[in-house]
Amino acid sequence: MNGKFITFEGIDGSGKSTQLEMLGDSLRGRGIDPVITCEPGGTALGRALRAAFLETKETVAPMAELLSFAADRAQHVEFLIKPSISAGRIVISDRYADATFAYQGAGRGFPEEKVLQVIGLATGGLKPDLTIFFDIDVAEAIRRMAARDEAKAKRNRMDEETAEFYTRVRNAYLGIAEREPERFKVIDASGSIEDIQVEVVKIVDGILR
Ligand code: ADP
Ligand code: TYD
Repeated sequence: MNGKFITFEGIDGSGKSTQLEMLGDSLRGRGIDPVITCEPGGTALGRALRAAFLETKETVAPMAELLSFAADRAQHVEFLIKPSISAGRIVISDRYADATFAYQGAGRGFPEEKVLQVIGLATGGLKPDLTIFFDIDVAEAIRRMAARDEAKAKRNRMDEETAEFYTRVRNAYLGIAEREPERFKVIDASGSIEDIQVEVVKIVDGILR
């Protein structure tokens, strides 16, 4: 089988990690062994960077943040994503370059041209074959994040952002959906976990055929 590169995107709390784990199980149940990965933190260097810049108490300069995500991605592309696609594997990443466009571009306010330049440097132009965007109302995402954090699952600096920040990020993702409807598929992430999974499997099957 030809290798494929699939990415999951969404604002924090949209439920994409839950869906990615389920998709992995579903594919393995059908005899496909996908490479499941994430950004930031898909490589050992990436995990060290992630801990350094997402879990620090120090104020992080927006440019340092932009370049840290890029460094994480460059390592991920070079040593995990590209070799896996070349070996014919299905690679599925929880976030990729669209996250930088949405979070550092619309969220932090870096000019689009600068963000695209940094993304181009980090990825060498590698684009996903398919991206699934889990679209959710910002207030609902914030409720889910709060419930998840109460269960002490996880928390990081980006989870402290305001509803306005997440609204800008969400709108930037929806803009990508308008410009690239073939690659970037939007799923309504407000439904039940099971219903959303049915949609995910349907869309993924479309490119695996
Ligand atoms: P993300 O990876 O997008 O930040 P998660 O998958 O961690 O989101 O989900 C955030 C929280 O919402 C978790 O506690 C998860 O169990 C819950 N959750 C996920 N999907 C749904 C859903 N469809 N409906 C209600 N809660 C959900
Ligand atoms: P993490 O806990 O890994 O995220 P998730 O909510 O996806 O499970 O935190 C990653 C955070 O970093 C998340 O808030 C999104 C943000 N991010 C960016 O701002 N830019 C990027 O390029 C990427 C990949 C992530």
